[in-house]
Amino acid sequence: MMRFTTLLLFSLLVLHQCISTINATEVSHDGRAITIDGKRRLLISGSIHYPRSTPEMWPDLIKKAKEGGLDAIETYVFWNAHEPFRRQYDFSGNLDFIKFIKTVQDHGLYAVLRIGPYVCAEWNYGGFPLWLHNMRGINELRTANTVYMREMQNFTTLIVDMVKKEKLFASQGGPIILSQVENEYGNVMAPYGHAGKVYVDWCAKMADSLDIGVPWIMCQQSDAPEPMINTCNGWYCDHFTPNDPNSPKMWTENWSGWFKSWGASDPYRTTEDLAYATARFFQLGGTFNNYYMYHGGTNFGRTAGGPLITTSYDYDAPLDEYGIFNQPKYGHLKELHDILHSMEKVLTHGNVSHTDMGNSISASVYQSTDGSACFLSNKNTTTDATVKFQGATYDVPAWSVSILPDCKNDVYNTAKVNTETWVIEKKANQAEQEPVALKWAWRPENIDDTVVKGKGEKSSSELMDQKAANDVSDYLWYMTSLNVDENDPIWCDDMSLRVNCTGQVLHAYVNGEYIGREFVTYGIFHYVFEKKIKLKPGLNQITLLSVTTGFQHYGPKFDKIANGVLGPVEIIGRKGDQTVITDLSSHKWSFQAGLKSIDRNNNIVKVDSSEWKTHELPTQRKMTWYKTTFKTPTGTDPVSLDLNGLGKGLAWVNGKSIGRYWPSNIAESHNCTKNGCDYRGKYDFNKCVRDCGLPTQRWYHVPRSFLVDGENELVLFEEFGGNPSSVNFQTLTVGKACGSAYENKTMEISCPGRSITGVRFALYGDVQGTCGSFQPGTCQGKKDILDVLKKECIGKEKCAVEANEAVFGPVNCQGVKKRLVAEVVC
Ligand code: GAL
Repeated sequence: MMRFTTLLLFSLLVLHQCISTINATEVSHDGRAITIDGKRRLLISGSIHYPRSTPEMWPDLIKKAKEGGLDAIETYVFWNAHEPFRRQYDFSGNLDFIKFIKTVQDHGLYAVLRIGPYVCAEWNYGGFPLWLHNMRGINELRTANTVYMREMQNFTTLIVDMVKKEKLFASQGGPIILSQVENEYGNVMAPYGHAGKVYVDWCAKMADSLDIGVPWIMCQQSDAPEPMINTCNGWYCDHFTPNDPNSPKMWTENWSGWFKSWGASDPYRTTEDLAYATARFFQLGGTFNNYYMYHGGTNFGRTAGGPLITTSYDYDAPLDEYGIFNQPKYGHLKELHDILHSMEKVLTHGNVSHTDMGNSISASVYQSTDGSACFLSNKNTTTDATVKFQGATYDVPAWSVSILPDCKNDVYNTAKVNTETWVIEKKANQAEQEPVALKWAWRPENIDDTVVKGKGEKSSSELMDQKAANDVSDYLWYMTSLNVDENDPIWCDDMSLRVNCTGQVLHAYVNGEYIGREFVTYGIFHYVFEKKIKLKPGLNQITLLSVTTGFQHYGPKFDKIANGVLGPVEIIGRKGDQTVITDLSSHKWSFQAGLKSIDRNNNIVKVDSSEWKTHELPTQRKMTWYKTTFKTPTGTDPVSLDLNGLGKGLAWVNGKSIGRYWPSNIAESHNCTKNGCDYRGKYDFNKCVRDCGLPTQRWYHVPRSFLVDGENELVLFEEFGGNPSSVNFQTLTVGKACGSAYENKTMEISCPGRSITGVRFALYGDVQGTCGSFQPGTCQGKKDILDVLKKECIGKEKCAVEANEAVFGPVNCQGVKKRLVAEVVC
C-alpha cells in the first residue's frame, strides 16, 4: 500500500511537472525585441498598481486595458504595505497581488512585475517600511550596506517565492514575462560613490540568483550589468539606446500625465503629445512600451508619497481615477495600438532606413519579406508640413507622426484625434431625498494628555525625526516645559515661539492654548513658524504637533531627509532693541505618536459611540471628529465624496480609510493657460496644468465595494477646522460627449448606459475651442449639420457619422484641416 501511494505521488509529481513544462512560455530577447516562444514581439503594456484600486475594480480595469490594445499590465510591489512591521505580512484585500496577477492572467494578458522593492511611485517613503530605516546599523538605504541588503533580499525572495508557488512566471506557464529589480537607481547613483556601483552589481546578482526564468530589467541604469536589461523612463524615449546591443529598446515608463501635489495645480498631458511620443518611439525602433500610468487610481489610507502627494493619483491616465475612460486619450491610443500591432512582424523583423528629409521631417521605412511599413514625422513645433514621399503627398501637422502601415495609406496621425471627448459630470446621490443635508454627530479629539499634561510615551533631550516614530500615524506630538519667572532675562511683554520645521504641518499650543499653525507650501520644504505667545510665571507647557502628509519618496539619499521638528525651537523675548533667545532644542522633550481615537496599528477609528454629540454642531473647530450616515447611491456609477468646506484631515467610510483630505489647500493660481495647452513642443509637468486657484482636491473616491446595502457611515477627523454642512456624495457619469472626425473618418459619439438627449453643436469645417466651448472657425459647410446629427443620434446610446463631403456637401477651407465636430448632451 505504502509503495503504491509513493508511486502514485511520484507519478502525479512527474505529470504535474510535465504539464508545467508544456505550459511554460519561453521569454527571452535579442537586440530587437522581447521574444516569446522564440517570436519577437511588439508589446504594449500599462501600469495599474493593485493597492490603488480594489479587487472588485481589477477585472473591469484589466478588461478595459485589454480592449484598449494592451498586451500586458505592469505593477510595482509595495514593500511597506506588505510588511508594515518586520516579518509581519499583509497580502489581504487590495494587497493581494497574487490575485491581481491571476486576474491579469484570466484576461489573457501578460504581466510585468517590478519588485523594486524601492519603487518611488509617489508612494510613502518610496515603498520602504520605516522600520527598515530605524533598524540598528542600517544608516543608509539603497547602498552597499549588509543590513539593508539582507532585508531587501529577504523581501524580494519572499515575493519571488510567492509568485513561483502560484506558478505565475511565464517560465512556469504563468503571465509574468519580465521582472524588475531596483528602480531608476542610475538617476541618483553618483552621491553613493563606489558603494553605489557595488550595490547595483549586487542587485543584479541577487535578482539573477532567484532563477525566475524570465528576463530582469533595471530602468534608467545605463551601467546595468548582464543579464539585466537597461530600459528608459521619461516623457520621450525615442532617442534611447540600451547599454547592450543585445538588449531591445524598451520604455518602462511612458508618462501618460503626471501626479498632483497639495498646493499645486493639476498637471495633464495632451493626447496628441502622448500619442506623438509613443509613435516616435516605435518609429525609431522601440518594441516595448509601458504607460505609466494606464490607471493611476487612489492613494488610500496614508499611502501617498511625500512630502505633498495628493490622495488622488489620477495621473491623467487613459483610465481615470474611478476607472472611467479618459476620452479621447484612451480611444486615440487604442487606435494607435491596433495599428502598431498590425505592423508587429515588420517592425520587429524588417530592415530599417531612416531618412532626414530636412526641416525636422523624417521618414522611416521598415521592410521585410512580408511587406513594408512607414512612419513620417514632423518635429517642427509650429509648422505643418506637406511631405512628398514615395511619389505621393502627405499632410503631416507640426509635432506629429503619420503611420502608413503599407507605406502608402496614411491611416493614423498622432495630432488628428478621431475619438470622442467625454466630459464627466457629478450627479447628486439619487438614493437620498433632495436637497441632501447629512445629519452630523461630533466629538472633540481628547488632547488633554499632550496639550495640557505634556504626557508622552518616550522622552529625550533631543528633538526627534518623525521617521523614528515608525510611521504609525501622521501625527507626532513634541512636548516640553519651561520654568520662568519675572526676573528671567527672557521675560518681556513681547514674546514669541519660533520653530524651524521640516514637517508638512505644525500646530503649536502653549499652556493648553492653541497659538497657531503653519504648513509647507508646494515646492518649499522648510519653513519657520513664529507666533506671539504669553508665558506665565512658573512652569509653562509647550506642545508642538507635527503632521506628515507622506514621507519623501524620491531623490539621492531621500531616506535620510528629515521630517518633523528638528529645531531649533526657540522662545524669543524682545525688549526695546534687545532680543533674548532661549533655545529649547536640547530641553527634555517627550513624544507621543498618534491620536487617541485612532488605533495606530490598523488606522481605524476607535471612538466610543456614547461620546458623540448631535447638538451644537461646531464649525471651524480644530481636532474634531464628525460622523454621519448616508445611503448607497443607486446604480453602478462610481461614487465620489465632495468634501468642500472642510479643512484638512482623514476620512473613513465604513471603517475603511479613503485617504487624507485637504480641500482648504488651494492650488497655486499661476500657470494655467486660458486657452488650454498647445500639444506642440516638448512637454514637462509644468507645461499643461488646470484647476489653478481651486482646492487642490475637492472630490475623493469611495469605491463601491466600501459601501453596504442600507446605511453607511462616514467618519472625518478634522484637523484644521471646517464646515461639514455641504459635504455630500455624488456619482460620476458622462455628461457631455463631443465627437471629432477628420475628413473620411467616422465620428462616433456615445452616452454610455444612457441615451443622447440633444445635440448642442455640430459643424463640418474648421472649429475653435474644446468640448463644451466649441465655436465655429473660419469656414464651414452649408448643409444643416445639426439636423443630420439630431436625426442620427438622439434617442440612441451611440451614433456614428461619416465625415465627408458626400454627407455634408463641399466645403472649401483653403488649407485649413476640416473636420466634423459635434457636442451631444447625455
Ligand atoms: C519615475 C519613477 C516612478 C514614478 C515616476 C513619476 O521616476 O520611477 O516610480 O515616481 O517617476 O510619476
